Amino acid sequence: MRKKIVAGNWKMNNNKRETAELIQALKPLNFSTDLRVMVAPAFTHLVQAEELTQGSRIEVLAQNMNAAESGAFTGEISAAMLSSIGIQKVILGHSERRAYYNETDASLKGKVTTALSHDMEIVFCFGEELDQRKSGSHFEVVKTQLETALFDLSPEQWSKIILAYEPVWAIGTGETASPEQAQEMHAYIRSLIASKYDQTLADSISILYGGSIKPANASAIFSQSDVDGGLIGGAALKAEDFSAIIQSA
Ligand code: 13P
Repeated sequence: MRKKIVAGNWKMNNNKRETAELIQALKPLNFSTDLRVMVAPAFTHLVQAEELTQGSRIEVLAQNMNAAESGAFTGEISAAMLSSIGIQKVILGHSERRAYYNETDASLKGKVTTALSHDMEIVFCFGEELDQRKSGSHFEVVKTQLETALFDLSPEQWSKIILAYEPVWAIGTGETASPEQAQEMHAYIRSLIASKYDQTLADSISILYGGSIKPANASAIFSQSDVDGGLIGGAALKAEDFSAIIQSA
Protein backbone atom coordinates (compact mmCIF):
# COMPACT_ATOMS: atom_id res chain seq x y z
CA MET A 1 0.00 0.00 0.00
CA ARG A 2 1.15 3.52 -0.66
CA LYS A 3 3.11 5.38 1.99
CA LYS A 4 2.49 8.79 3.42
CA ILE A 5 5.18 11.30 2.60
CA VAL A 6 6.01 14.71 4.01
CA ALA A 7 8.61 16.53 1.94
CA GLY A 8 10.15 19.95 2.54
CA ASN A 9 11.02 21.95 -0.57
CA TRP A 10 13.49 24.52 0.71
CA LYS A 11 13.63 26.33 -2.64
CA MET A 12 16.42 28.98 -2.83
CA ASN A 13 16.74 29.32 0.94
CA ASN A 14 19.30 28.39 3.61
CA ASN A 15 23.06 28.79 3.43
CA LYS A 16 25.42 25.96 4.35
CA ARG A 17 25.22 26.55 8.10
CA GLU A 18 21.43 26.98 8.09
CA THR A 19 21.04 23.79 6.07
CA ALA A 20 23.13 21.85 8.58
CA GLU A 21 21.27 23.34 11.55
CA LEU A 22 17.86 22.51 10.11
CA ILE A 23 18.85 18.92 9.38
CA GLN A 24 20.34 18.49 12.85
CA ALA A 25 17.13 19.82 14.37
CA LEU A 26 15.01 17.35 12.37
CA LYS A 27 17.19 14.30 12.90
CA PRO A 28 16.01 13.32 16.42
CA LEU A 29 12.40 13.27 15.26
CA ASN A 30 10.56 9.98 15.63
CA PHE A 31 7.98 9.21 13.00
CA SER A 32 5.98 6.17 11.95
CA THR A 33 7.53 3.58 9.65
CA ASP A 34 4.53 4.17 7.35
CA LEU A 35 5.74 7.71 6.78
CA ARG A 36 8.62 8.95 4.63
CA VAL A 37 10.19 12.32 5.37
CA MET A 38 12.21 14.13 2.70
CA VAL A 39 14.03 17.43 2.43
CA ALA A 40 15.14 19.21 -0.74
CA PRO A 41 18.03 21.60 -0.05
CA ALA A 42 19.79 23.66 -2.71
CA PHE A 43 22.22 21.88 -5.05
CA THR A 44 25.21 23.39 -3.24
CA HIS A 45 24.24 21.68 0.03
CA LEU A 46 23.18 18.26 -1.22
CA VAL A 47 26.50 16.57 -0.40
CA GLN A 48 26.41 17.94 3.12
CA ALA A 49 22.74 17.03 3.54
CA GLU A 50 23.35 13.49 2.32
CA GLU A 51 26.18 13.10 4.83
CA LEU A 52 24.28 14.62 7.74
CA THR A 53 21.21 12.45 7.21
CA GLN A 54 23.19 9.18 7.21
CA GLY A 55 21.83 6.95 9.96
CA SER A 56 18.48 8.76 10.01
CA ARG A 57 15.30 8.10 8.04
CA ILE A 58 15.32 11.57 6.51
CA GLU A 59 15.68 11.31 2.73
CA VAL A 60 17.33 13.98 0.59
CA LEU A 61 16.10 14.99 -2.84
CA ALA A 62 17.14 17.53 -5.45
CA GLN A 63 14.86 20.36 -6.55
CA ASN A 64 15.52 19.98 -10.27
CA MET A 65 17.82 18.46 -12.89
CA ASN A 66 18.52 18.74 -16.60
CA ALA A 67 17.11 16.29 -19.13
CA ALA A 68 20.42 15.90 -20.96
CA GLU A 69 23.01 13.33 -19.93
CA SER A 70 25.88 15.83 -20.06
CA GLY A 71 27.29 18.56 -22.30
CA ALA A 72 27.32 22.28 -22.97
CA PHE A 73 24.54 23.40 -20.61
CA THR A 74 26.20 26.04 -18.47
CA GLY A 75 24.86 26.15 -14.95
CA GLU A 76 22.91 22.92 -15.16
CA ILE A 77 23.03 19.71 -13.11
CA SER A 78 22.61 16.22 -14.55
CA ALA A 79 21.04 13.06 -13.15
CA ALA A 80 24.44 11.37 -13.23
CA MET A 81 25.89 14.16 -11.08
CA LEU A 82 23.13 13.70 -8.52
CA SER A 83 23.54 9.93 -8.57
CA SER A 84 27.27 10.28 -8.04
CA ILE A 85 26.67 11.97 -4.68
CA GLY A 86 24.03 9.46 -3.62
CA ILE A 87 20.96 11.51 -4.53
CA GLN A 88 18.38 9.24 -6.20
CA LYS A 89 15.33 11.49 -5.91
CA VAL A 90 14.33 14.70 -7.62
CA ILE A 91 11.46 17.17 -7.72
CA LEU A 92 10.37 17.86 -11.31
CA GLY A 93 7.83 20.28 -12.71
CA HIS A 94 7.48 22.66 -9.80
CA SER A 95 5.23 25.56 -10.79
CA GLU A 96 8.05 28.03 -10.12
CA ARG A 97 10.19 26.20 -12.68
CA ARG A 98 7.27 26.17 -15.11
CA ALA A 99 6.59 29.89 -14.58
CA TYR A 100 10.14 31.32 -14.43
CA TYR A 101 12.17 28.83 -16.48
CA ASN A 102 9.68 27.93 -19.18
CA GLU A 103 9.34 24.29 -18.25
CA THR A 104 6.46 22.67 -20.10
CA ASP A 105 4.74 19.31 -19.85
CA ALA A 106 6.58 18.30 -23.02
CA SER A 107 10.02 19.33 -21.72
CA LEU A 108 9.25 17.71 -18.38
CA LYS A 109 8.57 14.46 -20.15
CA GLY A 110 12.23 14.51 -21.20
CA LYS A 111 13.36 15.09 -17.63
CA VAL A 112 11.14 12.27 -16.39
CA THR A 113 12.62 9.89 -18.98
CA THR A 114 16.19 10.80 -18.00
CA ALA A 115 15.52 10.58 -14.26
CA LEU A 116 13.94 7.14 -14.66
CA SER A 117 16.83 5.92 -16.79
CA HIS A 118 19.03 6.76 -13.78
CA ASP A 119 16.67 4.84 -11.51
CA MET A 120 15.66 8.03 -9.72
CA GLU A 121 12.45 8.54 -7.82
CA ILE A 122 10.49 11.59 -8.98
CA VAL A 123 8.23 13.95 -7.08
CA PHE A 124 6.26 15.28 -10.04
CA CYS A 125 4.53 18.62 -9.41
CA PHE A 126 1.56 19.99 -11.31
CA GLY A 127 -1.55 22.05 -10.66
CA GLU A 128 -3.77 24.74 -12.08
CA GLU A 129 -3.44 28.52 -11.90
CA LEU A 130 -6.01 30.80 -10.30
CA ASP A 131 -7.79 31.81 -13.52
CA GLN A 132 -8.05 28.17 -14.53
CA ARG A 133 -9.65 27.29 -11.19
CA LYS A 134 -12.01 30.27 -11.51
CA SER A 135 -13.06 29.29 -15.01
CA GLY A 136 -13.65 25.70 -13.91
CA SER A 137 -10.98 24.21 -16.20
CA HIS A 138 -8.79 22.92 -13.35
CA PHE A 139 -9.63 19.25 -13.90
CA GLU A 140 -8.87 19.52 -17.61
CA VAL A 141 -5.59 21.34 -16.92
CA VAL A 142 -4.40 18.69 -14.47
CA LYS A 143 -5.46 15.91 -16.83
CA THR A 144 -3.39 17.39 -19.66
CA GLN A 145 -0.37 17.92 -17.39
CA LEU A 146 -0.40 14.29 -16.28
CA GLU A 147 -1.23 12.82 -19.67
CA THR A 148 1.53 14.71 -21.45
CA ALA A 149 4.32 14.09 -18.98
CA LEU A 150 3.51 10.73 -17.41
CA PHE A 151 0.88 8.65 -19.19
CA ASP A 152 3.40 7.07 -21.57
CA LEU A 153 5.15 5.42 -18.64
CA SER A 154 4.92 1.69 -18.05
CA PRO A 155 3.26 0.43 -14.87
CA GLU A 156 6.73 -0.58 -13.61
CA GLN A 157 8.04 2.95 -14.12
CA TRP A 158 5.16 4.33 -12.02
CA SER A 159 6.72 2.70 -8.97
CA LYS A 160 9.22 5.58 -9.12
CA ILE A 161 6.59 8.33 -9.34
CA ILE A 162 5.24 10.41 -6.45
CA LEU A 163 2.65 12.99 -7.47
CA ALA A 164 2.41 16.44 -5.88
CA TYR A 165 -0.72 18.41 -6.67
CA GLU A 166 0.15 22.04 -6.03
CA PRO A 167 -2.51 24.52 -7.12
CA VAL A 168 -0.48 27.58 -8.12
CA TRP A 169 -2.91 29.95 -6.38
CA ALA A 170 -2.13 28.27 -3.05
CA ILE A 171 1.66 28.38 -3.22
CA GLY A 172 3.23 30.90 -0.88
CA THR A 173 -0.02 32.87 -0.78
CA GLY A 174 -1.35 31.74 2.57
CA GLU A 175 -4.43 30.58 0.71
CA THR A 176 -4.80 26.80 1.03
CA ALA A 177 -7.08 24.57 -0.91
CA SER A 178 -9.77 23.41 1.49
CA PRO A 179 -9.49 19.77 2.57
CA GLU A 180 -12.54 19.10 0.36
CA GLN A 181 -10.96 20.79 -2.67
CA ALA A 182 -7.77 18.80 -2.16
CA GLN A 183 -9.67 15.52 -1.73
CA GLU A 184 -11.82 16.22 -4.80
CA MET A 185 -8.78 16.78 -7.01
CA HIS A 186 -6.75 13.91 -5.55
CA ALA A 187 -9.65 11.49 -6.07
CA TYR A 188 -9.94 12.74 -9.65
CA ILE A 189 -6.19 12.22 -10.21
CA ARG A 190 -6.42 8.69 -8.86
CA SER A 191 -9.40 7.99 -11.12
CA LEU A 192 -7.41 9.19 -14.14
CA ILE A 193 -4.60 6.76 -13.33
CA ALA A 194 -7.12 3.97 -12.74
CA SER A 195 -8.73 4.51 -16.14
CA LYS A 196 -5.43 4.76 -17.99
CA TYR A 197 -3.81 1.86 -16.10
CA ASP A 198 -5.79 0.06 -13.38
CA GLN A 199 -7.12 0.56 -9.86
CA THR A 200 -4.28 -1.38 -8.22
CA LEU A 201 -1.70 0.92 -9.74
CA ALA A 202 -3.79 4.00 -8.92
CA ASP A 203 -4.06 2.89 -5.30
CA SER A 204 -0.29 2.41 -5.05
CA ILE A 205 0.61 6.00 -5.97
CA SER A 206 1.27 8.56 -3.24
CA ILE A 207 -0.42 11.84 -4.12
CA LEU A 208 0.84 14.77 -2.05
CA TYR A 209 -0.81 18.15 -1.66
CA GLY A 210 1.28 21.33 -1.68
CA GLY A 211 0.34 24.96 -1.11
CA SER A 212 0.43 26.90 2.17
CA ILE A 213 0.44 23.85 4.43
CA LYS A 214 1.05 24.94 8.02
CA PRO A 215 0.93 23.14 11.37
CA ALA A 216 -2.58 24.55 11.83
CA ASN A 217 -4.09 23.10 8.63
CA ALA A 218 -1.92 20.02 8.01
CA SER A 219 -3.96 17.37 9.80
CA ALA A 220 -7.27 18.42 8.19
CA ILE A 221 -5.70 18.08 4.73
CA PHE A 222 -3.72 14.93 5.49
CA SER A 223 -6.78 13.17 6.89
CA GLN A 224 -8.46 13.15 3.48
CA SER A 225 -8.54 9.64 2.07
CA ASP A 226 -6.75 10.42 -1.20
CA VAL A 227 -4.21 12.85 0.27
CA ASP A 228 -1.03 10.96 1.10
CA GLY A 229 0.96 13.77 2.67
CA GLY A 230 2.36 17.08 1.56
CA LEU A 231 5.05 19.04 -0.20
CA ILE A 232 5.83 21.93 2.10
CA GLY A 233 7.52 25.22 1.18
CA GLY A 234 7.69 28.07 3.70
CA ALA A 235 6.74 26.04 6.76
CA ALA A 236 9.50 23.51 6.00
CA LEU A 237 12.12 26.16 6.73
CA LYS A 238 11.36 26.18 10.45
CA ALA A 239 12.24 22.96 12.28
CA GLU A 240 9.41 23.44 14.75
CA ASP A 241 6.74 23.93 12.09
CA PHE A 242 8.02 21.17 9.83
CA SER A 243 8.21 18.78 12.79
CA ALA A 244 4.62 19.61 13.74
CA ILE A 245 3.50 18.97 10.15
CA ILE A 246 5.35 15.62 10.13
CA GLN A 247 3.59 14.66 13.36
CA SER A 248 0.21 15.51 11.73
CA ALA A 249 0.71 13.04 8.90
P1 13P B 1 4.31 26.96 0.38
O1 13P B 1 4.14 25.83 1.38
O2 13P B 1 5.28 27.99 0.82
O3 13P B 1 3.01 27.49 -0.09
O4 13P B 1 5.01 26.27 -0.91
C1 13P B 1 4.49 25.10 -1.43
C2 13P B 1 5.44 24.60 -2.45
O5 13P B 1 5.65 25.24 -3.46
C3 13P B 1 6.15 23.34 -2.18
O6 13P B 1 6.81 22.89 -3.32
